[in-house]
Amino acid sequence: MIWLGRRQGCEGGEQTRARRRSGVLAVLALLILTGCAGSGGRFTPSAELRALQAVRCDYPATRFAVFSDPHVYPRSLGTSGAAFQDYLNKDRKLLVDSEALLDAVVDRIGALGVEFVLVCGDLTKDGERIAHQLVAEKLRRLAEGGKPVFVVPGNHDIANAKALRYEGDHTVAVPTVSAPEFAGIYAPFGYAAALERDPDSLSYLAEPVPGLWLLALDSCRWREQGERGDPVTDGRIYPSTRDWMEKVLIRAKRQGKAVIAAMHHGVVEHYPRNEKFFGQYLVDDFGYIGDMLSAHGVQMVFTGHFHAQDVTARTFAHPLRTLHDIETGSLVTAPCPYRVVTIGADRQATIESRFITAIPGHGKDFGAFAADCVYRSTIRLADDALAKYKVSAADRPQLGPQIARAYVTHLTGDENRPAVVLQAAEGGWWTRLVMWSQKDLIEGWYTDMAPADNDLVIDLSR
Ligand SMILES: [Fe+2]
Ligand SMILES: [Fe+2]
Repeated sequence: MIWLGRRQGCEGGEQTRARRRSGVLAVLALLILTGCAGSGGRFTPSAELRALQAVRCDYPATRFAVFSDPHVYPRSLGTSGAAFQDYLNKDRKLLVDSEALLDAVVDRIGALGVEFVLVCGDLTKDGERIAHQLVAEKLRRLAEGGKPVFVVPGNHDIANAKALRYEGDHTVAVPTVSAPEFAGIYAPFGYAAALERDPDSLSYLAEPVPGLWLLALDSCRWREQGERGDPVTDGRIYPSTRDWMEKVLIRAKRQGKAVIAAMHHGVVEHYPRNEKFFGQYLVDDFGYIGDMLSAHGVQMVFTGHFHAQDVTARTFAHPLRTLHDIETGSLVTAPCPYRVVTIGADRQATIESRFITAIPGHGKDFGAFAADCVYRSTIRLADDALAKYKVSAADRPQLGPQIARAYVTHLTGDENRPAVVLQAAEGGWWTRLVMWSQKDLIEGWYTDMAPADNDLVIDLSR
């Protein structure tokens, strides 16, 4: 998360004024540049699709579970020492508890009457091979219990240079995975039983229950990282994969299959100006991709990535139909959620959210502990960012908690907007400029775009 500004209260003279001027220009340039980003234009249905558009494929009755962003970090890679502590200070995730959280969600889902499970990416902290192997081992319990699991990759999962072990005050590189290795490790969780795989990505098609196709999409840009590079946060579905998707979606219509999709990146904005602020959490050309999915009859896409419990909807014109982006928060960030989706014979999808509130090693207060962790770490990160941009030490303590409250409110979902979203009555002119540049973001995080986020019913008959 980045908050911009430039000011240093103890500096004076021409040098400071020049820095302030360049800071103002940087803020304005960022606002202009980010405001120009587009959603990719309108999808034009092919003649083949137009001929099939009257065909409605009914959803079979089914029940399934969804969780996302478990970011598993094996404790064997080190959980003590200065280097690990330094990492934790710049992070919000409950990494030390990630194995226990995955065990807990596997136990809970294993006890439910669900037919399959979706996992929407960022399976590991940073693509460590040993972490993927551990995730696969834990997911096997679900599959062996008769609940097939379907995964998609997240931006952290492949060819990641940040795959590290922490030893005292330094880090040591550990093996990460290539895309083929990812598909190999997760062969039992989508890739082996796929009806079809996209030859150019880790996207695949599966039929978890008869009559329902799952379009499992790889929205990540790992191919741009080489064998081992910094993970690209932004998402993209490349042209050849779009062509593959269209062919699959046309075939679904011809064969009378209803389709749901899963991908790591968002496809509908989750708060006002999401594209301007943190557009890298939406897939590139999200308007076009959403339009394409909707035009082919897809009504629900399950996503992750921003770690928020947030459902949004967008209605497209041809035909008039609504696409729902059902983002599930991270398992390792409060409120540590998972979802249960029930599609009834009446074509209503009931979505319930549940939360991991207890794990071994913590008392009954795990939920409160997790909430406190994300709140305090966000204050710390906000403070670091504000300091970097020269907001004075006197002004920062009044901004950090306000930013953290807005962010945590968004992560939890079903946001209630307070009367005042951001104020710095005592702040200097530079602080007020920074606030002005970020007010829309804070306002956005407090804005609950329809429908509800945690418990809701989606009418699939329309
Ligand atoms: Fe994530
Ligand atoms: Fe992610």
